Amino acid sequence: MIPSAFRVKPQTRPFITLALYCQGTKSTKSLHKQPPFQSLLDYLGRHPGLYRFIRWSVCFGREAGLQKRALGALKLKAGDTVLDLGCGAGVNFALLEEKVGAGGRIIALDYSEGMLAQAKALSVRRGWGNIEFIQGDAARMTLPENALDGAVCTFALSAMPNDDGAICRVAASLKPGAQFVVFDAKAFTGPAKFFNPVAGPFFKHTTNWDYEKDVVGKIKMAFGRTEVHEFNGGCNYIAVATRIT
Ligand SMILES: C[S@@+](CC[C@H](N)C(=O)[O-])C[C@H]1O[C@@H](n2cnc3c(N)ncnc32)[C@H](O)[C@@H]1O
Repeated sequence: MIPSAFRVKPQTRPFITLALYCQGTKSTKSLHKQPPFQSLLDYLGRHPGLYRFIRWSVCFGREAGLQKRALGALKLKAGDTVLDLGCGAGVNFALLEEKVGAGGRIIALDYSEGMLAQAKALSVRRGWGNIEFIQGDAARMTLPENALDGAVCTFALSAMPNDDGAICRVAASLKPGAQFVVFDAKAFTGPAKFFNPVAGPFFKHTTNWDYEKDVVGKIKMAFGRTEVHEFNGGCNYIAVATRIT
């Protein structure tokens, strides 16, 4: 929920500063509200086949292509540092490694022990020695400011209790001109919105995913410059936000 003191008319949004928006999003929401959901994610971390099936289903079988398109939007070069926020079992690592190379760095942050264990095992199997793993809450991460060349968050922001806080932390940690790419799910738009009252509460209950949250709106408020592309009846989207200042 955007704090009322900081809600502005749509036409003024591009001019709102990051500092102004993020000052208004300091929230007391924290992870102690998350345990049932986190234990489910720990479980899915130990059952990667089931997790891959769920991921495939929520993208109607298009997740590989959409993931490639999302990560392809990150303007990274060899040697860069990139954040994978809510990295889960490490599904984005291979594509990120291709971009930053062995001389670059991936910071992989996640709250779930089970997911991080899978991600670490994957990095060992693939011989990726440039990934730094952090277990913690995205809204409380303490990365240095102006340090990242890019950041990505796939299917995680919409399930975070304090998504505003996470967005602001990412924005502050990016270098000016760097991008934050979000590939996620949201409520259907158009004729398919008929499914929202059924699919929404189901996913809210099982994964903490909140279909009523306006994650895209919050990204736009924090960053200003944001391109959004929708797929699958509007229920999947890729948002590419650029830190302007
Ligand atoms: C559905 S999984 C997505 C994982 C991966 N990015 C992918 O695309 O498959 C959501 C991930 O977000 C993580 N997560 C949820 N809330 C978080 C928070 N507040 N801080 C850090 N990670 C969080 C979960 O632990 C989980 O691994």
